[in-house]
Amino acid sequence: MYPLIRPLLFRLDPEHAHALSLNAVRMAGRNPVTRLVLRALFDLHDRRLEVKAFGLTFRNPVGMAAGYDKNAVGVSGLAALGFGHLELGTVTRFPQVGNPKPRLHRLPEYKAVINSMGFPNDGIDVIERRPWQAPGTRAGMNVGKSKETVIERAADDYVFLLRRVYRRADYVALNISSPNTLNLRQLQAREHLEGLLKAVAAARDALPRRVPLLLKLAPDLTEAEIDDALAAATANGIDGLIATNTTINRKGLPSYTVGIQGGVSGRPLTARANAFVAYLARQTTLPIVGVGGIMTPDDALARLDAGATLIQLYTGLIYAGPGLVRAINKAILKRNG
Ligand SMILES: Cc1cc2nc3c(=O)[nH]c(=O)nc-3n(C[C@H](O)[C@H](O)[C@H](O)COP(=O)(O)O)c2cc1C
Repeated sequence: MYPLIRPLLFRLDPEHAHALSLNAVRMAGRNPVTRLVLRALFDLHDRRLEVKAFGLTFRNPVGMAAGYDKNAVGVSGLAALGFGHLELGTVTRFPQVGNPKPRLHRLPEYKAVINSMGFPNDGIDVIERRPWQAPGTRAGMNVGKSKETVIERAADDYVFLLRRVYRRADYVALNISSPNTLNLRQLQAREHLEGLLKAVAAARDALPRRVPLLLKLAPDLTEAEIDDALAAATANGIDGLIATNTTINRKGLPSYTVGIQGGVSGRPLTARANAFVAYLARQTTLPIVGVGGIMTPDDALARLDAGATLIQLYTGLIYAGPGLVRAINKAILKRNG
C-alpha cells in the first residue's frame, strides 16, 4: 500500500509529512484494535530472529533509528510495526526548538534526505514522563548535548541525562555525532572523548543498575579517529557502538546540495556505513549497531554480514515504507534457512 501513499506524502513539506506519519503511528498505537491490525500487517514473530547484545535479548535485529520519535510519543504504534527495538530521542537536558526551517529536504532521485534539525525536542522533564516502553520491544534512549552547553561542559549534560533515563531505558546511546549542533562532533576527538566517557562511565558505575552504554559515531571519521574513539570506548567500558550518523559528505550527490546545510542519510550513505561497520568489526569485539543507508533487505543482510549485530532504519522507511521491517526479517529467516 505504501507505493500509493508515498506520492501523497511526498507532495507535502517533509517535516509536515513526518509529523503526519508520526501522528498516525501514535494514534494507531493508542487503540488496541488498530494496534492488532498493525501487528497483523507488519509484525513477523519468529524465535529464530532473536539476537542477544549487551546483555539484552532483542526479538529481532531491526530497530528504528534515533530522530524519528524524538519525543517518545509513538512507542506503542512503532512497536506494533514489528521493530525489535526503538531508539528514542535525541533528548536534551532542556527543551529546544532546533534549527530554523526548512531543515529537512528529500532528494527522491537519490533516495536521500538532508536534515539539519538540531535536536528539536521537548526536553527530558517532559519526555521522561511519557510511556516509552512497549512489551517485547526494547527501547533505547539517545541523549545529546544542549545547544547552549559549551563543549567543555558537555559531560555534565550526558551524566545528567544518564541519571534521568537509566531506570527505564534498555540502553543509553551517547550521541556525539550529529552534524547539526555546533561543535558536537568535536566530542569524538580524543582530547574530549576520553574525559567525556570517563565521566559518563563513572556516573554509570555509581548507579544501582548497569545500563548498557552505546556510542554513536559519525561516518566522516578517518580510520585514525575511529581507532582513537575505539580506544576510549574500550578503556571506559562502553558496551556497543552505533555506526553511523548522517554524513556531511556530498559524494554521489549533485553540487547544488553543498548549499543545503545538514547531514545526508539514505542511499548515498550505504557504502560508507557498510565499510565503517566492516572496519569496526575488524578492530573490536564490541557489538555494533549498523545504521545508514539500509534501503532494502539486501542492504540489511550486507550490513549484518559486515559485522553488525543489530541494524536500524530511518531513511529507508521514508522511501520503502514500514513494510521494510518485515521484509528484512523475512530475508534474514530465508537466508538462515
Ligand atoms: C530527519 C532525521 C533526524 C535525525 N535525528 C537524529 C537524532 O536526533 N539523533 C541521532 O542520533 N540521529 C538522528 N538521525 C540520524 C539517524 O538516526 C541515522 O543515523 C541516519 O539517518 C542514517 O540512517 P538512514 O540512512 O537509515 O537514515 C536523524 C536522521 C534524520 C533523517
